[in-house]
Amino acid sequence: MMMPMLDHDVVPPAAPAHPAPGRPVELEAVVREHVAVNDEYRYLSLDLPEGAPHAKPGQFYHLLCPTGDGLEPFFRRPMSVYRVEPEKNRLGFLYKVTGTGTAAMARLWPGDTFNLFGPLGIGFTLPADRAPIVLLGRGVGLATMGPLVPFARENGHRVTAILSARAPDLVMSVDEMRAAGADVITVTDAEGTSAVPHVEGILEDLVAKGACAALYVCGSSRLTRLAQAVAARHDLFGEVALEQQMACGVGVCFCCVRPFRENGETVHRRVCCEGPVFPLAEALA
Ligand SMILES: Cc1cc2nc3c(=O)[nH]c(=O)nc-3n(C[C@H](O)[C@H](O)[C@H](O)COP(=O)(O)OP(=O)(O)OC[C@H]3O[C@@H](n4cnc5c(N)ncnc54)[C@H](O)[C@@H]3O)c2cc1C
Ligand code: FES
Repeated sequence: MMMPMLDHDVVPPAAPAHPAPGRPVELEAVVREHVAVNDEYRYLSLDLPEGAPHAKPGQFYHLLCPTGDGLEPFFRRPMSVYRVEPEKNRLGFLYKVTGTGTAAMARLWPGDTFNLFGPLGIGFTLPADRAPIVLLGRGVGLATMGPLVPFARENGHRVTAILSARAPDLVMSVDEMRAAGADVITVTDAEGTSAVPHVEGILEDLVAKGACAALYVCGSSRLTRLAQAVAARHDLFGEVALEQQMACGVGVCFCCVRPFRENGETVHRRVCCEGPVFPLAEALA
C-alpha cells in the first residue's frame, strides 16, 4: 500500500519535528549585488551555481571570507540566510561588520567569487493548521527572521513581525516583510518602545486577539526570556534561533556547545548541527 506523503515542514505544535536539512556542499558563488543597508549592515546577494541545494529559513552557510590587505580571517564564519530565491538560483545575506571576517567580506565586489559551505543546521518549523505566528527579532536576528516571513505566508500562516532595534534607522526588513504579507510592528530603544514590559503588552494583545499561536525569536536574550514566559503562560509553540561562535560548523569540534534544559535537566548541544533553531522552552537565555 502507498504511504501518504508527509510534509515535514508543517508539524503539529504538540510534537514539533524539524525539517531534514539539505545535504551541504562547497560552492563557488558569484557576487551579484553588495550594498550598505544602513550605517551598520550590508546586504550581499549571490548567484549560486546551477543545481546548488537551497537553504530553508533558519539554516546557515559557513563562509570562507577572503584574505589579503591585512585581513587574514581564520576559519569560516557562520551566516544565516536572509533571502532565498530558488527560482532565480540566488541567495542573500544581511550582515554586520563586527571583526576580521566580516570586514574582509565587506570588500567583495560584484563579479567576485565567494566560497560557501552549506546549507547547514536545522531551520524553522511551522505549526499545523495555518496557525498565526509572531516573530520577534533584534539586531542580527532581523536577518535570520527574514526568510521565515515568505515561508510562513506561502504555507498559509498569518504573520506578525515585531522588529526591535536601538534606533528607527537600524530597523531593517520592514518593507520586505510587509511586501511578503506580514503585519510589522517596530520598537526601538530611542523611542522607548523596546522595553520588555511594552513588548510583553504587544504580545499579550496579539494572543488575546487570536493572532499568536506560535512565537519565533532571534537576536536578544531578554526577548527570548520574554517569549519563553509568554509561550509558557499560554501554552504556545515556539522556536529560538541561536548564535554561537563556530569553528567546523558540522558537529565535529564541539566549540559551539551551549547548555539547554530538557525535562528538568541541563543538557549540552552543538548549535551548528543540533540547531541553530531550537525549541523555545529549552534554551537557557
Ligand atoms: C547560525 C549563525 C547565524 C548568523 N547569522 C548572521 C547574520 O545573518 N548576520 C550577521 O551579521 N551575523 C550573523 N551571525 C554572526 C556572525 O557569524 C559573526 O558576526 C561573524 O562570525 C563575526 O566574524 P568576524 O570575523 O567579523 O568577527 P570576529 O573577529 O570573529 O568577532 C568580532 C566580535 O564578535 C563576536 N562574535 C563573533 N562571532 C560571534 C557569534 N557567532 N555570536 C556572537 N558573537 C560573536 C566576537 O566574540 C567578537 O567580540 C551568525 C552567527 C551564527 C552562529
Ligand atoms: S562548530 Fe564545530 S561542533 Fe559546532
